[in-house]
Amino acid sequence: MNYRTFFRTLAAVAVFAASLFVALPQASPAGSEALKIVTGPYLQAATENSVTIVWITNRNSTGAVELGPSGAELKTVANSRDGLIDANERVHKVALTDLKPGAVYRYRAVSRDILKFGSNKVDYGETVTSDLLEFRTFDRSKQEYSFLVFNDIHDISATIADLLKMNGDRPYDFVVLNGDTVSSLDGESRITPILDQAVASFASRIPLFWLRGNHETRGSFARQFPGYIASPTGRYYYSFSHGPVRFVVLDTGEDKTDSHVEYSGLADFERYRREEAEWLRAEVKTPAFRQARFRVVFAHMPFPAAPRPQAPGTPPSPFTGMEDGFRNFGATLDGAGVDMMISGHVHSPAIIQPEPGRHKYPIVRGGGPKDQGRTLIRVEVKGRTLDATILRPDGTVFGTSQVSSNR
Ligand SMILES: [Fe+2]
Repeated sequence: MNYRTFFRTLAAVAVFAASLFVALPQASPAGSEALKIVTGPYLQAATENSVTIVWITNRNSTGAVELGPSGAELKTVANSRDGLIDANERVHKVALTDLKPGAVYRYRAVSRDILKFGSNKVDYGETVTSDLLEFRTFDRSKQEYSFLVFNDIHDISATIADLLKMNGDRPYDFVVLNGDTVSSLDGESRITPILDQAVASFASRIPLFWLRGNHETRGSFARQFPGYIASPTGRYYYSFSHGPVRFVVLDTGEDKTDSHVEYSGLADFERYRREEAEWLRAEVKTPAFRQARFRVVFAHMPFPAAPRPQAPGTPPSPFTGMEDGFRNFGATLDGAGVDMMISGHVHSPAIIQPEPGRHKYPIVRGGGPKDQGRTLIRVEVKGRTLDATILRPDGTVFGTSQVSSNR
């Protein structure tokens, strides 16, 4: 074979190889690892009629959920906004709506690789799916169930598995991370270790509520945090019902004055709490709140139990967040017949009894982030009573609070 024939043959092989390359579906973009789900799926924004499924893939892809009632065939649900179906994202959120209360649904998260996102054509690659999983929607007619509350984990993600041991095999319908689950947010890498621990234990099957404390407000990534969670209102404050209980989730914001040097001129919580207080005043007038047998409030900072004003002559404390919370929310909660507040923040467990003029309801406050100071709060809803127990890591009980209702 002379050189000319050799190069002609080589060119023909190259063209044939290129045609194969185009004709055959490509598994992954050149030089990339296969598409995979790296975190989740986990359940968010649970109500009686809706749940949001969230998961993260290792690179941008499509995101849809295959969903069906127990025993029925699965149908594909995808979110769209402004006429465009969600795609080309790493964090996938699919809101499932129009669900029946108290019903079991099977679901699977599905992402399809995007090899090339052209203006007129999208080339897809392989599809990845999660396991086939199940969840149950909340149900206002359910009289007995339990839920669990963690607080102030401060990045020690293993705390989730450690403290769940204290619960043993007892069932629970949802889990609350009641603020300061991380110490600050400077990237996704602060969020996913927590989510991965939650998913490993429960969060693909049992709804997770990750509430904002004063530490989720800090760091360069704090403004991206809403991308990883979901709530019924799309805000950090919201409400939901399950069984005889109306739950109100408050965002108590930062713990110091907005002008404090730590916030570098970027805090606006005093105005934010006033807006939130308006929402709260409307919430306590809703039939769902008024007709509920119990009203339970989650608030990271236990604001009605704030320190009293200091003696004359001492410099003013910068820790004004709790007092500002008390000013904005205290009278509304006291007038609305709240039965229990569940808090954290001060790293010291307590059952704070009602105190006339400040709060008519007990405050159940969880412990801190370290070792034997950590606590798990288990609340049992039993028809006409509500039993909260603060458990220590060694399995002993720190304290209990029981409220009953004639409503
Ligand atoms: Fe805190």
